[in-house]
Amino acid sequence: MPELGVNIDHVATIREARKTYEPDPVWAAALAELGGADGITIHLREDRRHIQDRDLRVLRETVSVKLNLELACDNDVLDLALQYVPDQASLVPEKREELTTEGGLDVVGNRDVVTGAIRKLKDAGVVVALFLDPDVAQIEAGREIGADAVELHTGQYALAKPGAERDTQMEILETAAAAVRRCGMKLHAGHGLNYQNVGPVAGIEGMIELNIGHSIIARAVMVGLQTAVREMKNLIGA
Ligand code: PXP
Repeated sequence: MPELGVNIDHVATIREARKTYEPDPVWAAALAELGGADGITIHLREDRRHIQDRDLRVLRETVSVKLNLELACDNDVLDLALQYVPDQASLVPEKREELTTEGGLDVVGNRDVVTGAIRKLKDAGVVVALFLDPDVAQIEAGREIGADAVELHTGQYALAKPGAERDTQMEILETAAAAVRRCGMKLHAGHGLNYQNVGPVAGIEGMIELNIGHSIIARAVMVGLQTAVREMKNLIGA
């Protein structure tokens, strides 16, 4: 069974909406661990729109499962990664205007920058994954520059309509997964995975880690809201 890395960025997004101290992603990480998360994933973005430097620092001390830091190659976050040494780093492209990571990293077009980031992280003892579109040329380039793992971008699969469209995207993922296995790298996947579409991706041969955020936090709001309202009613009544 693949491991589940729970991405808790959205918890920090809610906190940052009020620039306050709650909800605290550190609490969320603890609850995710209690729920069985095999890893905690955070993306420290250049614009700090959700996860903050303090979160990385405290989570590094408190997370007892794998801490996976998503980061871009070419900014000050790389220095913070080398300072706090997460168990794993997932290198992603980053654009200021995007709502979420839109595409995979272009290793072929940015070979030197990505190679430099991989080397620094690996020298610090961090396992390095590359977030790549399911594209064999990108995967092979990733192997050549020393990546330990590839996280296949499942965004197009997640957006595809169930039926022929999704079957086509699944075939693309299967081909890419075979390339990752052939290259001897660890196989991860993530982006847009939810309660309806996770099954086939979890079943890909050799899949060892899935990183899921939005759907889990969205579901947590729904399963937790009734209790939260009742607790507030009780306090008002008291
Ligand atoms: N993997 C990577 C590299 C990501 O950037 C994200 C989004 O931050 C995820 C996985 C999780 O995607 P989602 O929130 O859609 O589950």
